[in-house]
Amino acid sequence: MSMRSASRRDFLRLSAAATAAISLRDLARAAPRLATGGLERRRFGKTDMQVAVLGFGGAEIGYEKTAQETVAKLLNAALDAGLNVVDTSACYIDSEVSIGEAIGARRKEYYLFTKCGHVIADGKRGEDWSKEGVLASVERSLKRLKTDVLDLVQLHSCSKDVLEQGECIEGLELAKKQGKTRYIGYSGDSQAARYAVECGRFDSLQTSCNFVDQECIELTLPLAKEKQMGVVAKRPIANAVWRYEKKPDNGYHEKYWQRLQDLRYEWALGEARTKEGPDGPAGTALRFTAMQPAVDVLIVGTTKPERWKQNATLMEAGPLAKELEAAIRARWKAVAKPDWTGQT
Ligand SMILES: NC(=O)c1ccc[n+]([C@@H]2O[C@H](COP(=O)([O-])OP(=O)(O)OC[C@H]3O[C@@H](n4cnc5c(N)ncnc54)[C@H](OP(=O)(O)O)[C@@H]3O)[C@@H](O)[C@H]2O)c1
Repeated sequence: MSMRSASRRDFLRLSAAATAAISLRDLARAAPRLATGGLERRRFGKTDMQVAVLGFGGAEIGYEKTAQETVAKLLNAALDAGLNVVDTSACYIDSEVSIGEAIGARRKEYYLFTKCGHVIADGKRGEDWSKEGVLASVERSLKRLKTDVLDLVQLHSCSKDVLEQGECIEGLELAKKQGKTRYIGYSGDSQAARYAVECGRFDSLQTSCNFVDQECIELTLPLAKEKQMGVVAKRPIANAVWRYEKKPDNGYHEKYWQRLQDLRYEWALGEARTKEGPDGPAGTALRFTAMQPAVDVLIVGTTKPERWKQNATLMEAGPLAKELEAAIRARWKAVAKPDWTGQT
């Protein structure tokens, strides 16, 4: 979508909003989001959000306990360069607090997505999918993120059984009704994600999508598109597993690394691993994910201040050549094993 059509649509939306007498606070929140920048913007499903196609994933800064000074530098530089989606979770250690401290004062410039269901209390990690648990988690996130309203709260990868039982969805629906969050979503994979899309109660889906994790491309993305859901691609650069010459110690990265060895994509192995620019492994990985059906925003995790701008520049090259994308899909279809399901 061109910047011109996005701006025009926003202009019409704001005019309509004015006649419908929406609150001044809403207008103030919407206006700075017309910010310019070279990166493509996409309408997030049928919501009113126009998202820059590269967002920020807040797990790494939490788990790596990145210094506050670095987080502030990273997020402020990215906002200056066109970032407008920040995704985090109640359970990414202190990620929410860190984001709130770093950019809470610039809240009008970004859409804020968080997740609930996994909690840390008294140093212990646990899950709470009750209605009260969901509502309490949303309240906690509001405080930690220094905001009075969230743009999106997502259930953080509960099972299909928990979704079917439904209490957690009711909790989220209530949070939306109470004005604590503008939209609600599900974050997860495989059959649970399929159920979340089918049930029709969510505004968005966040799911793993990358060159070594392609189950979603047929299982959930086409239906999500049909239902006009916003789609967030998580793990969108496949944890950059081409970085590892040998099997990584990091258990979270190990499965993807093993899949890459089996898939043997030539652009991500051997000497090609060090290639830079949009046709190197990072550029190819990001551009592959960004061209999948329904994908609106890629939330790459990083602890490095310069990374967001670097990745944005790679993505400005646009979609991969059709033949390369088809080859990546074909290799997957030929090699993927039945247990290569979407990885949380
Ligand atoms: N269940 C869930 O809901 C769930 C699960 C997983 C993830 N998520 C969300 O998705 C986000 C992203 O997931 P993720 O961080 O696991 O995966 P990812 O974004 O695919 O990978 C992040 C890793 O890639 C590296 N990287 C980024 N750009 C690079 C580049 N151009 N060249 C080389 N390395 C690069 C980063 O290292 P540097 O620090 O060196 O940049 C980081 O180690 C998370 O932050 C979280 O918000 C949600």
